[in-house]
Amino acid sequence: MNGVDAFDASSILVRLDAATHAAFASIEVVDAIDSTNSELLRRRTPDSGLVALFADRQHGGRGRQGRPWASPPGANLYFSVARRFTGELARLGGLSLVAGIATAEAMRAIGAGGVGVKWPNDLVVDDAGTLRKLGGILIEGGLQDGGVRAVIGIGLNVRMPAEAASAIDQPWTDLQAQIAGGAPTRDVVAAALLVSLAEALARFDAEGLAPFLPRFEALDVLRDAQVDAQVADRTVTGVAAGIADDGALRLRTDAGLLPLHAGEVRVRRRGVPQSGASRA
Ligand code: BTN
Repeated sequence: MNGVDAFDASSILVRLDAATHAAFASIEVVDAIDSTNSELLRRRTPDSGLVALFADRQHGGRGRQGRPWASPPGANLYFSVARRFTGELARLGGLSLVAGIATAEAMRAIGAGGVGVKWPNDLVVDDAGTLRKLGGILIEGGLQDGGVRAVIGIGLNVRMPAEAASAIDQPWTDLQAQIAGGAPTRDVVAAALLVSLAEALARFDAEGLAPFLPRFEALDVLRDAQVDAQVADRTVTGVAAGIADDGALRLRTDAGLLPLHAGEVRVRRRGVPQSGASRA
């Protein structure tokens, strides 16, 4: 038992269907590590099958843009999944959307019906116009042994301890607040995530981004909202108009439709979507 709920590999494994179980080369839970992403990047990713590594706490958890990811023990989920992909390195761009979609869908499936995705892959809940962050995704990887491999790191607030909550500098939420009756134990949440990720990653490898475009539309919290996009050293303002076939966010500006690519921009929602706004 680690912390407030039982959390070990066997309690996750028993909750997986046979197909998901077979998709994983290994599923491991450790008490403490610097960062699950860093650890899977240090290891060789197997030629086939997924690898999952969960940690009860991280002492060097990393977020995007070089920020730390606070990872207190006994409460939240911190894990990474590694996998090889066919094709070119550029494919990893679309992967960030796919990971966000799979994670949000898994959260909805366990009862957190308000979870959406802030492009490209922040897990958020719209609380009367304020986007509260439920979790974040950090995708790393590159070439290994001549092939493309990715490490998908996910941090998800399950039951945020009060001491850790006081240090968070942005609106946040956790599953405890989002699910009627409270959050399930972490093994239940972890199993739901692995089922969803295994399906999504296999489909992305075989079929690309196309099957995910309608799935994203159902989760898109920026749709029709006024947003500020930080592109290099300038701010571009426009209305978010969904995503393009390659996963770029489409921003409707005075100068026309501008495609924004993940990794190059930071997007902030300004106004909530207009009711009855055109989706054309
Ligand atoms: C973000 O900035 O929104 C991304 C946060 C990603 C955090 C997760 S926790 C598990 C994995 N290990 C890390 O060090 N980071 C990711």
